[in-house]
Amino acid sequence: MVDYVNLNYEPSEKDLVVMYYVEKSNECKSLESASEEIAKESSIGTWTEIATLSSDIAKRLKPSVFYINEDNGIIKIAYPEELFELDNIPQILSAIAGNIYGMKVIENLRLIDVTFPKSMIDVHYGPKYGIKGIRKILGIENRPLLGTIVKPKVGLNEIEHARVCGDAWMGGLDIVKDDENLTSMKFNTFQKRIVETLKVRDRVEKETNEKKIYMPNITAKMSIMKKRADLVINNGGEYIMLDILTVGFSALQEIRSYLDDKNVIIHAHRAMHAALTRNKKHGMTMLSLAKIMRLIGMDQLHTGTVVGKMEGDKREVQEINEVITKNEVKGNDFTMLTQNWGSINPILPVASGGLSPLHVPDLIELLGKDMVFQFGGGCHGHPDGTFSGAKAIRQAVEAALEGISLNEYAKTHDEIKKALDKWKL
Ligand code: 3PG
Ligand code: 3PG
Ligand code: MG
Repeated sequence: MVDYVNLNYEPSEKDLVVMYYVEKSNECKSLESASEEIAKESSIGTWTEIATLSSDIAKRLKPSVFYINEDNGIIKIAYPEELFELDNIPQILSAIAGNIYGMKVIENLRLIDVTFPKSMIDVHYGPKYGIKGIRKILGIENRPLLGTIVKPKVGLNEIEHARVCGDAWMGGLDIVKDDENLTSMKFNTFQKRIVETLKVRDRVEKETNEKKIYMPNITAKMSIMKKRADLVINNGGEYIMLDILTVGFSALQEIRSYLDDKNVIIHAHRAMHAALTRNKKHGMTMLSLAKIMRLIGMDQLHTGTVVGKMEGDKREVQEINEVITKNEVKGNDFTMLTQNWGSINPILPVASGGLSPLHVPDLIELLGKDMVFQFGGGCHGHPDGTFSGAKAIRQAVEAALEGISLNEYAKTHDEIKKALDKWKL
């Protein structure tokens, strides 16, 4: 009989370690036995003893449950790296985040964090640019990057879209991105949108002498995504954006590899993540998803706002940002595992969703300056429109960085004054 629980086991550098929150069901006698079932089903075992599982296989490939906390339901399992095809994210997830979610012995199961062994880190791309690389391209050193999402999410035609982008850039924003559900529609086709919007970008760059970025959403089936990325590159675009959950892990790996020898920054939008991450007892954390995105090599990733319209508390968002930006992360017993990222670049975190210029001082205080802040309604909803909304956002950042309150700044800056009047907290 294979024994999967070994509380004396010390994980080595060659193990992939997972921290789970486990709630056993009534069909299971103890947390220990539930942990054993999880270890078994996610690796070499099944519901009964099998004659084909030799002691040699067990010796080489058996995972070890080395931590069980009865008080809070946290367990940790170390999996030998040999169990995994090191550069195959779908395979890794089919093991550690696969069948186990559906087992009757489990009431709830949440993958809290995963630590990748060095061998796995070594065979993945990671982000191509890192925060320094992105800042260098934009030529912005000391402030957060500022962006908007064209609103309405879908509905404008290509020319209207390009005009809104132009207003936002002229008002002082660095970045304009497509929304997660805008791809190529009858009323706004990808090709025409790219051509028209990048034409406007070129004009605004000349007029303002500032670098301006457009992040077109190339989300589609794989073969089309490659064509769309090429179209962006051929028209002088430097960024693409992807909906990382809906396109799937395999597609992300493929597009990262496809773009490796091209000069394009990848912006990762997490629409649908909450289907996996929102239930605090089940699914997986945004933190673990964010780590997978760093391994695959997304350059920018939405990680939450704390103060905006989407859920995600302060501790959670700050920990995610720590895990995707630091080289070494120190674990704790409940929310994070230790991770050394080797030479893998950091991801630039993005805060977006329900933000207005009034949130800027809090955003900088909570999340720092190495961020992208994005404002949809909080830009286009300004009483005087997109151009003034963009100006108000730039003013809010200037005020916050100079340590001046927005109310004070509003005395001499009309755009921020009108934003305050509309969105007063
Ligand atoms: C998030 O999930 O981080 C956002 O709410 C999505 O924001 P977006 O659509 O700005 O890009
Ligand atoms: C979203 O889809 O949530 C956004 O693109 C952010 O938009 P908002 O700033 O209007 O919430
Ligand atoms: Mg959106």
